[in-house]
Amino acid sequence: MPSPAIPSLFTPVRFGAIELRNRIVMASMTRGRSSNAGLVPTPLHVEYYRQRASAGLLMSEAVWVSQRAIGFVNVPGLFTSEQLAGWRAVTDAVHAEGGRIFAQLAHSGAVSHPDFFDGDLPLAPSAINPGLRSFTPGGFKDTVTPRAMSTEEIHATVDDYRIAARNAKLAGFDGVELHCATTYLLPEFLNSALNRRTDAYGGNAANRARIVFQVLEAMIAEWGPGRVGIKLAPTFAMGGFGPTHETPSTYDYLVDGLNGLSLSHLQIVRARENLHGTPVAALQDTVAYYRARFRGTLVANGGFDRNVADAAVRSEAADLVSFATPFIGNPDLVERLRHELPLSPSDSKTYYQGGARGYIDYPLAERDRSAGT
Ligand SMILES: Cc1cc2nc3c(=O)[nH]c(=O)nc-3n(C[C@H](O)[C@H](O)[C@H](O)COP(=O)(O)O)c2cc1C
Repeated sequence: MPSPAIPSLFTPVRFGAIELRNRIVMASMTRGRSSNAGLVPTPLHVEYYRQRASAGLLMSEAVWVSQRAIGFVNVPGLFTSEQLAGWRAVTDAVHAEGGRIFAQLAHSGAVSHPDFFDGDLPLAPSAINPGLRSFTPGGFKDTVTPRAMSTEEIHATVDDYRIAARNAKLAGFDGVELHCATTYLLPEFLNSALNRRTDAYGGNAANRARIVFQVLEAMIAEWGPGRVGIKLAPTFAMGGFGPTHETPSTYDYLVDGLNGLSLSHLQIVRARENLHGTPVAALQDTVAYYRARFRGTLVANGGFDRNVADAAVRSEAADLVSFATPFIGNPDLVERLRHELPLSPSDSKTYYQGGARGYIDYPLAERDRSAGT
C-alpha cells in the first residue's frame, strides 16, 4: 500500500525559499512573441503564462540580460523599464492564479549574429564559430566567428546578470534561473573546444566555470538564499557544439561548487540519445549521476511523460520534473496529468513565431471533451 509519505507529482514541495503546490515545472521555452522594437512582453505573454499557472512553477522563456546578450528574434529582455513593466503584468497574472514564476536569465554568446548589433560581432569566450544557425530578423543565418571577450567585458557581463536579477525582483518574479544549458554564452565558456582562453577564464575546469560562479554569486547577492537556480545540459550536442573529453570533469567541478551555494534548485536536462563511445558516456543516466553529486533540490527535464515523471518523484530520483513541449499544446497540463487525460499535440511551425496562433489558442481538456461529444 502506498504510504502517504511517498511524494507524487502532485504533492506540494519546498523549493528553496518558497512552497510550490505541485512538483510539475514548466521548463523555459523561447516563443518569439515580443515582436516589437523594445522587445517588451505583451498582453499575449500575460495570457500565455496565466493559462499555464497551475504548474507548481513556471520558468519564463530565456530573457536577455542586456542589449549585447540578444541573439534570437523577438525574444523579450529584462533590462529596460518598458520590459520590466511588461513582465510585471505577467507575474501579476500568474500570482492572481496562485502560481509561481521564475525568470530565466540568458546571454546568447556566439549563437547570436552581427545582424543584431549593426554589424558588430557577437561576444564569446574565444573567436571560434560554433557552426550553428542563428534565428535573426532576416530568418535563419549561419553563425559567424565571434569576438573573444576581454576581461573587462566579462566583468561587465557579470554585472549585466546582476542588474537583470535585480530587475526580475522589481518585475515581481519569485526567483531567477540561470540559463547554463544548450548553446548560449555560459555553456560556451564550459566547453573546452569553444573556450580556448589562456587567462583566468579558460584552460582548466576551475577557470572555465569561473564566470558561472561569478554570475551566480551576483544573482544571489540580489536575491538571497533559495531564490536562484541553474539549468545545465552537460550532454547537449548540436552542430559544432558538443561535449569534449573535458566535459564530465568540468561539470563535476561546477556541480560540486554549486553545493556550496544556497540555490533553489539544479535543473538537469537528461540525455535521451545513446552516449556510448562519446566523451560523456558516463553521463548516460544523467539524472542519477547528478542526483548523487548535488545535495540540493533537483529538477529533472527531458522527454518525460506522466508515468516516468511520477515514478522519478516517487523513487526520489528527482524532487520535481519539468516539462517543456507538452505545455505548449496543453495549458492545463497539470489537470491532464492528474486525471490521466490525453495530451494534445502542438504545431512546431508556431513554436517560435505566429502571434496568438499556436500560443494562447490551445483548448483546455474540458473544452476538448465537450467539443467531442
Ligand atoms: C519551443 C522551445 C523553446 C525552448 N526554449 C528554451 C529556453 O528559452 N531556455 C531553455 O533553457 N530551454 C529551452 N528549451 C528547452 C526546454 O526547456 C527543455 O529543456 C526541452 O524541450 C526538453 O524538455 P521536453 O522534452 O519536456 O520538451 C526550449 C524548448 C522548446 C521546445
